[in-house]
Amino acid sequence: MATFVTHHDVVLEQLEETARRLELIERKIDCYRERNQRTMNERTLGKGLAVSELGLGCMGMSAFYGTADEDEAIATIHRALELGCSFLDTAEMYGPFTNEELVGKAIAGNRDKWTIATKMGIRFAPTDDNPTNRVLDGSRENVRNSIEGSLKRLGTDRVDLYYLHRVDPGTPIEETVGAMGELVTEGKVRHLGLSEAKPATIRRAHATHPITALQTEYSLWTRDPEAEILPTVRELGIGFVPYAPLGRGFLSGRFTNPDELDKDDFRRHGPRFKGDALEHNLGLAAKVREIAEEKGITPGQLALAWVLAQGDDLVPIPGTKRRAYLEENLGAADVELSAGDLARIDAELPEAAGDRYDATGMATVNN
Ligand SMILES: NC(=O)c1ccc[n+]([C@@H]2O[C@H](COP(=O)([O-])OP(=O)(O)OC[C@H]3O[C@@H](n4cnc5c(N)ncnc54)[C@H](OP(=O)(O)O)[C@@H]3O)[C@@H](O)[C@H]2O)c1
Repeated sequence: MATFVTHHDVVLEQLEETARRLELIERKIDCYRERNQRTMNERTLGKGLAVSELGLGCMGMSAFYGTADEDEAIATIHRALELGCSFLDTAEMYGPFTNEELVGKAIAGNRDKWTIATKMGIRFAPTDDNPTNRVLDGSRENVRNSIEGSLKRLGTDRVDLYYLHRVDPGTPIEETVGAMGELVTEGKVRHLGLSEAKPATIRRAHATHPITALQTEYSLWTRDPEAEILPTVRELGIGFVPYAPLGRGFLSGRFTNPDELDKDDFRRHGPRFKGDALEHNLGLAAKVREIAEEKGITPGQLALAWVLAQGDDLVPIPGTKRRAYLEENLGAADVELSAGDLARIDAELPEAAGDRYDATGMATVNN
């Protein structure tokens, strides 16, 4: 029987084809939306600061880690929010000041979507001999001056988490934290934090005003907080924010030799990146890479997933100044490490060689 193709059939076929295409486009849009609207899980620091389970360390965007690219840095911050990472970490002394300005620029018009953490207590005090001179200053006067500058640079009326960057051994912690507590009463700050404080100081600070978070270096190659610091903050109900969770980029394979870094990159002077210590630590990074490859993830993702697996009270803040690394890092939230993986890491990863900082830097931690 002859088939007559009518104009009506042709139109119908064309319409069906258009519908199929539309469906495909819709599916693509859904995937794109899913990627863009991906929301991260939340974790709670201390008694009540809910933040995305991974934060974004902004320091390297303006200081210490070589060349800055403001456009890419701001695009990275904006991309973080699209992907559900809304916890930003900065400090008055990053730059100094320029990193807070950068963050202020990036969050402008969208302030309420972010949780902003910044730090005070390392005061820029240039002298004729040393134009970059800095001093530890935990005085009440410095607390009160610093917050005004930070609020202005960040373009906000409140800081969500205000840390004492380093404990000033010359000022009783009660004075510093007492003054920081006044800022909470005045509504300029929501929560207080400490950075690199020793257990006895954490206890005294917490007795003066509730502390929400302690920020200290913690990663696959810096495990010393496990001995006393983590048990102390857990006992007191204080959250823990591990900084440099990628071992300042070394665990991700970002560099294998400081000569690859910019001339003014501060890591060139790091004791872990020199001589015999570097040789030893390259073995450690190779082991991280080996385990990551076996799991089909990147070394950086393994390093971050390991920190995330140490407890729901930890919120790591990996730093990057570029979108590609940020996207990779946030993928670590989807990585599950089994008890076997964690045991293997404990058994096979050697301890790092070399101090975290040079002697001057080491004198400012654990006070
Ligand atoms: N409280 C304190 O005393 C203190 C001290 C240091 C840092 N912090 C805070 O903690 C944050 C994180 O620490 P951090 O930045 O020093 O160290 P980190 O997070 O361990 O590592 C940052 C380095 O890793 C590189 N990187 C990031 N993601 C990568 C990836 N997926 N693949 C390859 N390389 C990658 C970055 O490269 P690019 O730079 O090229 O993107 C950067 O060089 C800082 O931004 C800062 O906010 C606090």
